[in-house]
Amino acid sequence: MNIMTAPQIPVDVKETGVEIRLSDGAMHYFNAYWLRDNDPTSFSPVTRERSFDIFHLDTAPMVKSAMVDGDALVLHWTHEDHVTRMPLSWLEGFRNGARRPDPADLPRRAWYSDHYPAIPRFSHAALMAEPGQRARWLEALIVEGLAIVTDMPDTDEALTQTVNLMGAVRPTFFGDYFDVYTHINPTNTAYTAGPLELHTDTPAEEFAPGIQFLHCRRNSVQGGESIYSDGVAVANDFRKRDPRGFELLSTIDVPFFCEHDSYDMRSRQTVIELDRYGEVSGLTISQHMLDLLDLDQHLLDEYYPAFCRFGKMLQEKKYMMRFMMKAGECMVFDNHRIVHGRAGYVATSGERFLRGTYADRSEMRSTYRALVSEGRFKA
Ligand SMILES: [Fe+2]
Repeated sequence: MNIMTAPQIPVDVKETGVEIRLSDGAMHYFNAYWLRDNDPTSFSPVTRERSFDIFHLDTAPMVKSAMVDGDALVLHWTHEDHVTRMPLSWLEGFRNGARRPDPADLPRRAWYSDHYPAIPRFSHAALMAEPGQRARWLEALIVEGLAIVTDMPDTDEALTQTVNLMGAVRPTFFGDYFDVYTHINPTNTAYTAGPLELHTDTPAEEFAPGIQFLHCRRNSVQGGESIYSDGVAVANDFRKRDPRGFELLSTIDVPFFCEHDSYDMRSRQTVIELDRYGEVSGLTISQHMLDLLDLDQHLLDEYYPAFCRFGKMLQEKKYMMRFMMKAGECMVFDNHRIVHGRAGYVATSGERFLRGTYADRSEMRSTYRALVSEGRFKA
């Protein structure tokens, strides 16, 4: 009789952990604290949180014996009457010390002035009804930073419903919502609405809101084009064109303010924001909320020209996407990445009414992950 036995996977007990041969054929070390803390029984299937508290161990966890049984590493502990069965698949995922893969960590795709026809569009009804549409909508926000929701009902609730598809309404110190309402008297031909320069919103907050919504309810004025630019596209090109300017704008934080009788909001931000990989993730820019620069005046000899070179670049035709917002559309965009503004208009007749609000970027990404991935605890 021929009995087949699986070859024994080598496991060595070390003073502070174990070494085990994994699927790549190499020995990999795992720390004993990590193994004890992440024992599958450390997590409650009900709360899906860690219920084990490693701070309550009297002594440092020490492995007494280790062996592989089936698809698990089985550990006995020196100071504890406890057996750990650690799935080998968990160990494989952590063997190189790499970060946990994140489905929301998608590469950004820069866009330019001709992007308008290609902006991903989703109808309000489809987003409400179809999780697949919601996933594509959120993916567009992560990758391109901007999407349009079409066919919005002409109600306040429609905006709240749309926000709630990705998270909660994120208040600012102006409240839950803001209205941009211009009802122009047709007899008042002298009235001129000035341009609104490209900016990101509420830069004076320590953590400016991540996602902005602008629901266009009425727009029958002449002029007043919306202008949007992709801060990632501009800053990436600035990095090549002006490396020193890029360094200054991405490393030196400058003050932003929003001050009135009952509030005095202040923050310091770099104009160009980098992510943990050193890639451009966005901008913080607002001429009307930039505080007096309190940098060394000699540093300003270098900083101010770089700041102006960047500000002018932001207004190059190559980057500025111009279009008229239509009633029933809602612009949804990353407030840390997409700069927005409005051309001036000479008002002869009409009405312009936008209702806006914000949501949080991390909630948006959370909803995206929940829609597209299995997670760790889903049944
Ligand atoms: Fe704004």
